[in-house]
Formats: sequence, C-alpha cells, structure tokens
Amino acid sequence: MLEARDLSLIYCNERNDEFYAIHDVNFFANRGEMIGIVGPSGSGKSSLLYILSGLKKPTVGTVYYQEHALEVMSYNELAEIRRKEYGFIFQRHFLINYLTVLDNVLSVVNRNDKFWRNTAINLLETLGIADFANQKPYKMSVGERQKVAIARALVSQPKIIFADEPTASLDHSNARMVMDIFASLKGEITILVATHDDSILDQADRVIHMWDGRIAKSSIPVSAIENIKQSNPIMHRS
Ligand SMILES: Nc1ncnc2c1ncn2[C@@H]1O[C@H](COP(=O)(O)OP(=O)(O)O)[C@@H](O)[C@H]1O
Ligand SMILES: [Mg+2]
Repeated sequence: MLEARDLSLIYCNERNDEFYAIHDVNFFANRGEMIGIVGPSGSGKSSLLYILSGLKKPTVGTVYYQEHALEVMSYNELAEIRRKEYGFIFQRHFLINYLTVLDNVLSVVNRNDKFWRNTAINLLETLGIADFANQKPYKMSVGERQKVAIARALVSQPKIIFADEPTASLDHSNARMVMDIFASLKGEITILVATHDDSILDQADRVIHMWDGRIAKSSIPVSAIENIKQSNPIMHRS
C-alpha cells in the first residue's frame, strides 16, 4: 500500500558539501502492518517518515501510495490524501490549549456535526478520556494528552498512521499503553512508528534499523516470530 524506491534526501552545507540525511532507501508497507523504524538520533527516522507521508519531497526517488506516485500529484491531491487517509502523531502533540479536547480532535476533519461529534466521543471513550471531552487539554497529564493526539489522528479513519517518537515524552506505563493501542489497530490500519527506543516495538510486525540515513537491517521482533510459529506449525521444526 505504501512503497518507496531509491530515496535519498540530500542537504548542502555552507561549503556546498553534500550530506545524505537519507541514502538509497527502499521501503514498502503492506496494508495493516505495524512497522517500527528505529535508530539513533540523527539516523534519518523523522526524515524518512516525512518523505513517506508526503510532508517532505525526497531529493531523489519516488514514493507510491496505493501505486500512485506522490511526486506527480498536485498540491491539492496530496493534501486530500493526507487529510483523509493519513493520521499523524508526533512526540509533541501540538494540541490547541484554547480549544476543548473534543474540538481538538475535530480540528483535523474541520467538521462539527452530530456524526463527527459522535465519532470523536466514541474514540475518546475507547481511549478512556471521554470525561475530558469538554475540558481544555492543559489540565490533562502528558499521557492523557497523547491519547487526545491519538484520537485526533484516528478520527478521520485513516488508512495509515505515521507516528514520530510517539512515546518520547511518556513514562514507561503510558508508553506501553500507546503501543498497545497501536497493536490493537494494526491489521486494520498500517502503522509506522519511528523511535530511538526499540524496547517499545515488541508488537511490531517488522522493524527497520536506520544508521546514517541508510536501512542497516530489517528484522522481525521475537514476539512476532512466536505469533507466526503459533499460526504455522511447520516453523516448529528445527
Ligand atoms: N533542514 C535540515 N537541514 C540540514 N540537515 C538536516 C535538516 N533536517 C535534518 N537534518 C539532518 O538530517 C539527519 C537526519 O535527521 P532526522 O531525520 O531528524 O533523524 P532522526 O529522526 O533519526 O533523529 C541529521 O543528521 C539531521 O541533522
Ligand atoms: Mg526524529
């Protein structure tokens, strides 16, 4: 459903030296897969996520969403895909403190009719924060605020979630909760999670390891291998 071929993102410094933030990256994501993108700070995780989501143009290479190249789309076509099919979650949640929680969630669909209000309320209920619907987000804990950001990313019923360090400002139990929410959505929704902390990715179907702008290796978490083994007895043979 999402594919990228031969991506590079090149920056020039003042002396005109070329620097590769992303270097010859090939990538694909199938429908419903949860993929972790892991690597140290500066390895290119955010750049890759921004390119894949069409927020940034690569210097070289092409991204295909459902086999359509993003680079030949008009600004409006791309904006439409981002609004309807993509959901974004960032480390800092960028909630608007003078809007209620409910209006923050509805801000991405820019609608306030009964259908959308119900959809948003249902999501807040699922996430256990419906009591805050009419309050302002600054009164909430960081974990609760991140749940609002998740509700906002999900309200348009996106096909892909792009999450950049979604747990970085959370303690361990809130981080786990956020990853459990993602794990419950995979299968339906494709989820790409960039993080420097691979300990949160045990529920991912695949993990891509970035190093200096390149994909150094791709692996399957042990827990995912256990799941495959359970559904495929042949893999029990050694
Ligand atoms: N606007 C920019 N100009 C120059 N270099 C940049 C810019 N944005 C990111 N970089 C560099 O690209 C590399 C990858 O950055 P980034 O994708 O943010 O990595 P990560 O998310 O893994 O920390 C880093 O070395 C960073 O300094
Ligand atoms: Mg980053």
